[in-house]
Amino acid sequence: MKTMTLRLLLWAGVLSGVAYAYPLLAETSHDAWLRYAPIGKTEGEKYASLPAVIAVLGNSPALGTAQGELIRGVRGMLGKTLRAEKGLPREKAIILGTIASIQAVMPGFRARASVGEEGFWLTTEEVQGFRYLIVAATTDRGVLYGVFDLLGKIARDVDVASLDEVQQPYARLRWVDQWDNPDGGIERGYSGRSIFFEDGRVRSDLTLVREYARLLASIGINGCAINNVNADPRLLTEEFLPQLARIAEAFREWGIRIAISIDLSSPKTIGGLDTFDPLDPRLNQWWREKVDAIYTGIPDFGGFVVKADSEGRPGPSVYGRTPADAANVIARALKPHGGIVFYRAFVYDHHLNWQDPKADRARAAYDIFHPLDGKFDDNVVIQIKHGPIDFQVREPVSPLFGGLQQTNMAMELQITQEYTGQQRHLCFLPSMWKEVLDFDLQLKRDGASVKEVVSGKTFGRTTAGFVGVANVGRDASWLGHPLAMANLYGFGRLAWNPNLSPRIIAEEWTRLTLGNDPVVVRTVADMQLNSWKVYESYTGPLGLQTLTDILGSHYGPGVESSERNGWGQWHRADHDGAGMDRTVATGTGYAGQYSPPVAKLYESFETTPDELLLFFHHVPYTYVLKSGKTVIQHIYDVHYEGAERAAQFVHQWQSLRGRVDEQRYSDVLARLEYQAGHAIVWRDAVCNWFFRMSGIPDEQHRVGVYPDRIEAEAMQLQGFSTVDVVPSENASGGKAIECLESRGCTASFRFTRDAGWYEIDVVYFDQKNGDSSFRVLVGDQVVDEWTANDTLPATKIGGDSSTRRRIRGVALRPGDELRIVGIPDREEHAPLDYVEIHVSPK
Ligand code: GCU
Repeated sequence: MKTMTLRLLLWAGVLSGVAYAYPLLAETSHDAWLRYAPIGKTEGEKYASLPAVIAVLGNSPALGTAQGELIRGVRGMLGKTLRAEKGLPREKAIILGTIASIQAVMPGFRARASVGEEGFWLTTEEVQGFRYLIVAATTDRGVLYGVFDLLGKIARDVDVASLDEVQQPYARLRWVDQWDNPDGGIERGYSGRSIFFEDGRVRSDLTLVREYARLLASIGINGCAINNVNADPRLLTEEFLPQLARIAEAFREWGIRIAISIDLSSPKTIGGLDTFDPLDPRLNQWWREKVDAIYTGIPDFGGFVVKADSEGRPGPSVYGRTPADAANVIARALKPHGGIVFYRAFVYDHHLNWQDPKADRARAAYDIFHPLDGKFDDNVVIQIKHGPIDFQVREPVSPLFGGLQQTNMAMELQITQEYTGQQRHLCFLPSMWKEVLDFDLQLKRDGASVKEVVSGKTFGRTTAGFVGVANVGRDASWLGHPLAMANLYGFGRLAWNPNLSPRIIAEEWTRLTLGNDPVVVRTVADMQLNSWKVYESYTGPLGLQTLTDILGSHYGPGVESSERNGWGQWHRADHDGAGMDRTVATGTGYAGQYSPPVAKLYESFETTPDELLLFFHHVPYTYVLKSGKTVIQHIYDVHYEGAERAAQFVHQWQSLRGRVDEQRYSDVLARLEYQAGHAIVWRDAVCNWFFRMSGIPDEQHRVGVYPDRIEAEAMQLQGFSTVDVVPSENASGGKAIECLESRGCTASFRFTRDAGWYEIDVVYFDQKNGDSSFRVLVGDQVVDEWTANDTLPATKIGGDSSTRRRIRGVALRPGDELRIVGIPDREEHAPLDYVEIHVSPK
């Protein structure tokens, strides 16, 4: 029976013209880019001459890990089990080892170029008639990276017969941060609970931590800070240390060190002192003892991450001290052990006076840290978010990168999509990061790109690099959206080599994750590469930043939420125009924090690129952009284009049916369909808000005009009642209906258009505090029914919960009655917004 099914599948593949005739077995996304899936017969021939033996020169856990990985990968992809041997075999073989250990058995062996501390060399060598494929490095960890690279090549169908390639990481620090809490929750995590913690303790089963470490090592990550930057001081207590040591051990076999985030007030809150003043001499001793104890249990401990004087976290300002005072006292305790302090530059006042036109949160990091340049110890790294605000969909690069020339730096990027769709919208971030990395800060006559400056190359710092806030969780796919894993992969690849292009990264990731079918590679890479700009176009164009609900979920539309409060994420949109004047001449002076040529670029309207115009300037809605469009028309147009392009992602993905296994195919399809619906929610909310504010109509008569829409409140209602939605632009017409009767309620209307095939879109609100159910009938026939059981970040009706259900291919005739029956559950009252009916596409 089983063979029959397989054969049928193979035939189906042949008949449908799918080039890759391997049966597409259902896969989860858990193995991510390390699937080692069997490669096709023809492609496999390329590797027919691969040796049957693997020999490891040396004896360390990391080398053992590397050997195990190579055997696992080759077995998965080529169906062969390599024979493991010690010493130099007298037959062709794959050799793993440090250069020193290889030289001991092959005296003439010389690396062609320096491989550095963590780099590797893949090469072939003929010795006494035997051909060896060699993975060589200075350290065992380099060998492990080389093995992953070799396996990646095979998985991507790259010839490995005559390799001669040296790779070295661009920067020394390649870390990920996790914002996990001891109770198991994850701050800004969108894919389940913590892999590290539960109920105030480290979890007993750390299998997922090991698997995560393997994924991270495969992309060259060498450190992980495991807890929320809003740190729980309990992690520093004695009883927690053995638990942390277990996590460190799980990471160690993959060459990854751990760090923890700390609360600077710990000496007082958990340490028995009556102060945490960094200049009080008792602090030196307190931190020294604490750090020594940690290193007793975790000899390769990486150090501490510090968030202080930020968003309510205690810091040195309590005692009138500086971040340098605070960082250095801890750095001195870590120094003898080789540990590092990652001191975050995300320090700002969130009680700014919004009525003060000169107040500007964007200025804060530079204003505070630039005067301290040169005052930090050499094992302190200032960890700087890539932009001056907070991971918005578009920001200029942080001017602080140019403001610290005698201080170590690391750039903080956010892999978890807090402001970029929370893994429910496709948003490939390497496209954005690459623009940041390549930006020329113009600090020297021959230029100075952000990547060079941050990684220490421009000013000769060696402890420097990249930190990505990952926040993976226990979801089968680690980040929720299977395609979002390209962001984690891309972060690692860029930290290793920031000269890679986003296309190369997207294609590599697709090949490793979904296979080498060229149609799949091209389609998925194209989708990924377009996705950031598509997301930007419907959520925050022209440098307005993400126009989301900044006081709540950071997810759905909330244009007004950033104004009239102290958080300083202002866009200053009013009745006349939009944008924040950050010029030196008339604004907050922020533009002047860059080097003179860059400052000049941003100082004038003419030279500021359109995509950042409203970040730097306040202009009238009628201001004409370089494209020739007015600001307001641009806002309308890009929202419509963006929503249409989000809908195209669905079609692009559907074209891959049969080329991607059914499980991942349907997981991704569901996310993309949801995104297409939510992009319309965004489009309508933002466009209607700006229409109301500006009073300027859309030249194309789309905004506020919805001929195919039937508002729920205009239907015949039985049991349902109408409610006002706040803010009003987050529901069509500002109103919705809800059902408070447990038996259920009905909303109905008559179809009046021509007979034909139609698509019915039902827009309802899916809150996480209830699972209402809906049924749609035409006459007496049920055409669809579903339960609203998603876990969107919403407990009320609004832009976070608004969701569209598309019912395809329904035959309707004039006079047909359509009925929607809603049955409420708990706090979710079967809320409905509208129905939209479109002619089915041909
Ligand atoms: C964002 C995020 C917070 C986080 C903060 C930080 O503001 O919303 O949850 O704590 O960044 O980076 O410290």
